[in-house]
Amino acid sequence: MGDEVSAFESEFSAAQDARHAIGVASGTDAIELSLRAAGLGRGDRVATVSHTAVATVAAIYRAGLEPVLVDVVSKTYTMDPESLDLALRSDAGRGVRAVVPVHLYGHPADMTRIADVARAHGICIIEDCAQSHLAKWKGRFAGTFGVASAFSFYPTKNLGALGDGGAILTDSDAMAERLKSLRQYGWRERYISSEVGCNSRLDEIQASVLRVKLKTLSEETRARRALARLYDETLAGLPAALPWVHPDVEHSYHLYVIQIDRRDDVLTRMRARGVPVQVHYPLPVHLQPAYVGSVRVVPGGLPVTEALAGRLLTLPLHPFMGEGEIAMVCQALRECIAG
Ligand SMILES: Cc1ncc(COP(=O)(O)O)c(C=O)c1O
Repeated sequence: MGDEVSAFESEFSAAQDARHAIGVASGTDAIELSLRAAGLGRGDRVATVSHTAVATVAAIYRAGLEPVLVDVVSKTYTMDPESLDLALRSDAGRGVRAVVPVHLYGHPADMTRIADVARAHGICIIEDCAQSHLAKWKGRFAGTFGVASAFSFYPTKNLGALGDGGAILTDSDAMAERLKSLRQYGWRERYISSEVGCNSRLDEIQASVLRVKLKTLSEETRARRALARLYDETLAGLPAALPWVHPDVEHSYHLYVIQIDRRDDVLTRMRARGVPVQVHYPLPVHLQPAYVGSVRVVPGGLPVTEALAGRLLTLPLHPFMGEGEIAMVCQALRECIAG
């Protein structure tokens, strides 16, 4: 936490239009520490989605809090504000003090409606931006709608370090101070803990790499968008649901995810041809062994989340892919779907 970390924090907050960035050791830590810095404590509940990386839910538990899982919208794969509202009006919603929308795959959640629901219920918003660097909702960066937002710099993320790393953005001076203390043993003054903190430092080497890579993030995000458009054009007409983009969204295309029938057959065939397709995510969090039966879900369950899990397929996408590679993936997909 020397000069490279401070410089990266200034540059990253400026790039994302936020007042403060606080570097931490991972995206998971960024969620946990944001919830703690927002004043939530043991036994409080937090609403989020089950269709996410398990880290979102694990971080809530690690902060000593109880998750309440709500459904997603099938077109955008992000939190369904109506499901959130239903959960908050139910028994499961009692004691919920924060909501963590996840801007999954690089498509921001509906922050207008989620903010309305959060305001009506008097709860705060912490955004999970692990997959949404530079994405926008209504012209504003994802990560500027809540009291804080959590970013991951895991190597495969749109802005990736050479190992783990994360950051929290906030416009609140008080929150920034608390986060700086929490990430280092609760110190405000060296060697004197004013509260119980942890060791979640972003190290100098990762920060210096992130400073270099931040310079090309906008350009690489534009390249991702251009390649996604090429996928859209080349795959048009196939029996597959291509990524739908809300008219008010600037997508950051962390992942290019489609929906298809007989997903597992197509997945096996594509892999047999050497195309590195993946599934994000094969089992919703509420059905995973660690959480099934114990985690609270919205009344009526999570039908959209459960239906999606068997239909999603992630096609390869990174800013350095060539148009020929996109064409090869599309051709392989066309043949694998045809059987
Ligand atoms: C949506 C989401 N939230 C949280 C995380 C956790 O980030 P990290 O792996 O840096 O702890 C990730 C990345 O794995 C993620 O994709």
